[in-house]
Amino acid sequence: MRLKGAVVVITGASSGIGEAAALAFARRRANLVLGARRVDALNAVAQKCRDKGAPEVTVRRLDVSQRVEARAFVAAALRDHERIDVLVNNAGLGWMGRMHEMPEDKIDELIATNVKGVIATTQAAMPSMVQRRRGVIINVASVLGFRAAPYSAVYSATKHAVVGFSHALRGELSGTGVKVCVVYPASTETGFFAETEAPIGPQYPAWWVANAMAEPVFGGLLDHALGEARRMKSPHVGASPPPADERA
Ligand SMILES: NC(=O)c1ccc[n+]([C@@H]2O[C@H](COP(=O)([O-])OP(=O)(O)OC[C@H]3O[C@@H](n4cnc5c(N)ncnc54)[C@H](OP(=O)(O)O)[C@@H]3O)[C@@H](O)[C@H]2O)c1
Repeated sequence: MRLKGAVVVITGASSGIGEAAALAFARRRANLVLGARRVDALNAVAQKCRDKGAPEVTVRRLDVSQRVEARAFVAAALRDHERIDVLVNNAGLGWMGRMHEMPEDKIDELIATNVKGVIATTQAAMPSMVQRRRGVIINVASVLGFRAAPYSAVYSATKHAVVGFSHALRGELSGTGVKVCVVYPASTETGFFAETEAPIGPQYPAWWVANAMAEPVFGGLLDHALGEARRMKSPHVGASPPPADERA
């Protein structure tokens, strides 16, 4: 996809990987819509993006764990730009410790932010992407999304959910022109570990993860094949099934 002039919407853009992604897309002259809860930090990121070459940068306060806010954030981007070319579902948080000591409100917060937030923004963005037959959804999972880590049971579960959601959606959307990518960062140098235990092993710079998003390699042959198989068996689930007289 040509990123110059594209409309790129990023959740959790106030720091870390989301900030680095905003800067990576800004360097490629994309227009940006940035969301997170800390508006001061978002404004600082927005200014850096303008300095790097983003023609238009909009900042909106967003708590993605609130479904209404998540949907309104996407709706506002569509109202302002009439389209979304790239949606980056990056907002997320972790928690590390013994499972039986994890507070219930933390469990709820991780699931609401890392899983339900991704679902809500995706659902809100999908119809216009499918209608235009164009768009990319990039979901930031984690290496813990395919290999769970001890003392991070709920976080690992949320990232497995993001991976499963993304693969299923990729197959569902294959042939519609809408692509779904999953990013699996390993330990990355961000504010992520500020309130938790330090990671084991090396930490990668956030820009390194961000560049993988701005220059993605699309895979997904298996998801496409599974989507085609399902559509053949159940033509009514397809985005635009062929007329009945052409299906025989
Ligand atoms: N760092 C790592 O080692 C690592 C590894 C694998 C995957 N990841 C994933 O990468 C993503 C970004 O994390 P990071 O490492 O860049 O950490 P970070 O620096 O702490 O950034 C997290 C971002 O998410 C936002 N956020 C958190 N809760 C939110 C909410 N309810 N609504 C809206 N925004 C929210 C934060 O903004 P506000 O606080 O301003 O809302 C912040 O911008 C997360 O999904 C994380 O799971 C990180």
